[in-house]
Amino acid sequence: MIGAGWVGLCTAACFAELGHEVVARDIVPEKVESLSRGEVPMHEPGLGELLERNAERLTFTTSMEELLERTRLLFCCVDTPPTYSGDADLSRVQSVIDDLGDSVEHAIVMKSTVPVGTGRSIQRRREGLGYVSNPEFLKEGTAVEDFMHPDRVVVGAGEGSEGFADRVAALYEPLGAPIVRTDVASAEMIKLASNAFLATKISFINEIANVSEELGADVLEVARGMGLDERIGDKFLRPGIGYGGSCFPKDVSALKQLAGNSGYHFQLLTAVIEVNELQKRRTIGKLQKHLGSLVNREIALLGVAFKPDTDDVREATSLVLAARLQGEGANVRVYDPVAAQKAAELLGGARVCVSAGEALDGADAAVLVTEWPEFAELDWAGDVKGRMATPLVVDGRNFLDRDGLREAGFTYEGIGR
Ligand code: UDX
Repeated sequence: MIGAGWVGLCTAACFAELGHEVVARDIVPEKVESLSRGEVPMHEPGLGELLERNAERLTFTTSMEELLERTRLLFCCVDTPPTYSGDADLSRVQSVIDDLGDSVEHAIVMKSTVPVGTGRSIQRRREGLGYVSNPEFLKEGTAVEDFMHPDRVVVGAGEGSEGFADRVAALYEPLGAPIVRTDVASAEMIKLASNAFLATKISFINEIANVSEELGADVLEVARGMGLDERIGDKFLRPGIGYGGSCFPKDVSALKQLAGNSGYHFQLLTAVIEVNELQKRRTIGKLQKHLGSLVNREIALLGVAFKPDTDDVREATSLVLAARLQGEGANVRVYDPVAAQKAAELLGGARVCVSAGEALDGADAAVLVTEWPEFAELDWAGDVKGRMATPLVVDGRNFLDRDGLREAGFTYEGIGR
């Protein structure tokens, strides 16, 4: 593995669990040292156990020479964050290729999400290097489970790299999933198109939710009725306060940008992005509807992570909400079981609390941002009601017991209900 970040580490641990010897290289010496000591640098269920159980098969190093000496398949797992223009920043991928020297015995297996055409251009610039595209579809919070039980594995063979692609495909055979063998450009597109489609599904149901609010339908009933149609499916039809995370926002904008660079205006994705941005901000209007001006109002954000079971706050709706609320003059308090401390400096002047109770003390409104199970388990009717100055809840994930809260005297606003 080149890059021992979230993708590299999850993949390394899972391949080790399947019985392979894995060497993971990272350029940050402190990270390599702490991984070698058995420390787990992120919150990912099951990862710690896998790393511990397979410690003998896993080596961490900063040395590319060691990697080249000991292995032939080099999984590139470095990140490709968005640039200001929305294109993917390929500088880390480029420096990996530069570090490889001129070996013709090795293949790069690209796990990082890259623009369509990247593999071809790497092979043109670096003659003799084997190339396989093998995009990852792991979800944060369920990465180990997703790796072991994938819906499909995509393996795109570069020019002259069929043999390497066979070896990559063989690694996944024990998992019993369909293996999609294809060319590199199509493999690259499968990844971007899959994430763009899922983001479209979310923006679609969010718009249905917004219209349902106006017309008196309940979007949860609507999604249930739609999802039973097998052509639609019930996954990723949960309305909310917008998608976030390290992949969807980045991949949707990368595909839109990529299309634009080739002279095609991808109208649908432009709308998907805009709907998502508006969705994040709709909460402000819901609060104003009940509180009027938000100046000096005390607003509690429950959850900071972009979704539960992760401490990742990249593109998290909480950050946008905290900034917008402070812009409206509100005082913001936030609580998250794992992500708040890490995000403290991104949250502007928001007060980071150590418990939900502290965040809710004297609050004029609670906004549920992340559906951590502990928020459903709070004693809303008793303890929470007693703490809050105004019993107003905006449930950004339709996660709480609406009827129970209303019975207990709360003003409850969900999404699309
Ligand atoms: C995603 C893809 O699912 C994964 O295949 C890819 O490899 C990386 O990007 P991830 O970002 O970890 O994974 O999270 P995911 O569970 O897909 O959720 C993404 C965002 O969409 C979250 O903010 C989530 O709250 C939101 N979401 C998801 C919804 O708003 N509604 C849904 O129905 C599903």
